[in-house]
Amino acid sequence: MKKLVILGAGGLARELADAVVDINKNTQAFEVLGYLDDEDELIGQKRLQLPILGTLDWLAEHKSDDLFTIPAVGNGYSREKLSCTVQQYSAPLATIIHPRAIVGSGCSIEAGTFIAAGCVITVSVSLGKCVLVNMNCTIAHDVRVGNYVSIHPGARISGEVSIGDYALIGTQAAILNKCTIGKGAVVAMGAVVAHDVPDYTLVAGNPARAVRKLEKQ
Ligand SMILES: CC(C)(COP(=O)(O)OP(=O)(O)OC[C@H]1O[C@@H](n2cnc3c(N)ncnc32)[C@H](O)[C@@H]1OP(=O)(O)O)[C@@H](O)C(=O)NCCC(=O)NCCS
Repeated sequence: MKKLVILGAGGLARELADAVVDINKNTQAFEVLGYLDDEDELIGQKRLQLPILGTLDWLAEHKSDDLFTIPAVGNGYSREKLSCTVQQYSAPLATIIHPRAIVGSGCSIEAGTFIAAGCVITVSVSLGKCVLVNMNCTIAHDVRVGNYVSIHPGARISGEVSIGDYALIGTQAAILNKCTIGKGAVVAMGAVVAHDVPDYTLVAGNPARAVRKLEKQ
């Protein structure tokens, strides 16, 4: 069985740990050793019975061929930083797909991605590195999702949509087919997007309108 260390110790990290419990009910896939977190004062505490083992440096002292990691923080830029840091320790990234998510034929999913319970991803969808697809999202045919994208609960992504790196799709947002969501763009909770969204732009409302430009990070 592969060993897994979760990067982060907040709510999403607990949700991911719980998803692994459900995966292991079908097939013993991962032994979760615990969490790593930047905050020293959390070390030794437990979350869902699993310990916060240390900061990322913990990986330097625990190198092992069967030790995998996965970033479990909501911010895509932070997931990128975490995934780059763990590469220094040669700790490969796991991909976690909840057993109650459906992923159809012809999909490709890169390492470090977490797909939560209740998601339906149909056919020929590509998901980049360290993407978060939170619970109950639907992603239709031929959607392209870049790296470090965050798709929050209940989002509805129609066919042939393209989503740029670092973009955030808010809870219950809906995106019309063939739209392009730019790099680093944010689609607000509940927005209904009917047109392309430029890079680093926040849109909100129904129909979604640009609210402001966002800083590149
Ligand atoms: C749109 C969003 C990014 C704005 O965040 P923010 O910049 O911190 O904005 P604020 O909360 O300060 O709100 C600014 C204004 O936008 C409005 N606003 C906030 N969210 C909105 C939304 N989803 N739709 C429409 N208007 C919204 C606020 O009411 C406020 O209006 P006001 O200035 O007239 O009072 C954020 O509200 C959002 O929707 N994030 C997605 C979060 C999400 O899905 N999380 C899932 C976690 S699992």
